[in-house]
Amino acid sequence: MKVLFLNGPNLNLLGTREPQIYGRTTLADIEASVRDKAGSLKVEVEFRQSNSESELVGWIQRARECFSVIVINAAAYTHTSVAIRDSIAACGLPAIEIHLTNTHAREAFRRESFLTPVCKGVIAGFGASSYLLALDAAITVKAA
Ligand code: DQA
Repeated sequence: MKVLFLNGPNLNLLGTREPQIYGRTTLADIEASVRDKAGSLKVEVEFRQSNSESELVGWIQRARECFSVIVINAAAYTHTSVAIRDSIAACGLPAIEIHLTNTHAREAFRRESFLTPVCKGVIAGFGASSYLLALDAAITVKAA
């Protein structure tokens, strides 16, 4: 089983980006902890980040070739992107939406997600641990 972790805009800045909101953990730190856990669960993972909506859509479209589950933190595109929503719906793979922060406890515009209706579920608000929880969720979704 191979899980594709996709990360959207500005997540490359984790560690220095608004640390009072997103913490000091970098995306590389998160990837390392996910890889560590995945190794012990005998799951393969791939991590990608892009600031480009078009690149994210392309990765989702082609995910079927190599992956069985997508975990996606689409960042700001969560609240704006019909294109990412449609690509998840079209790709035929189960997807899990994740966020570092509890988007429902923040600004009103973050309460709407275009992705939730086409995802199996959402994990939000647990900081870097949202990614580790998503690995468990991916295994659960694959087994179902
Ligand atoms: C985020 C929440 C989004 O609202 C925001 O635009 C992000 C990060 C999160 O992980 O908490 O960039 O997806």
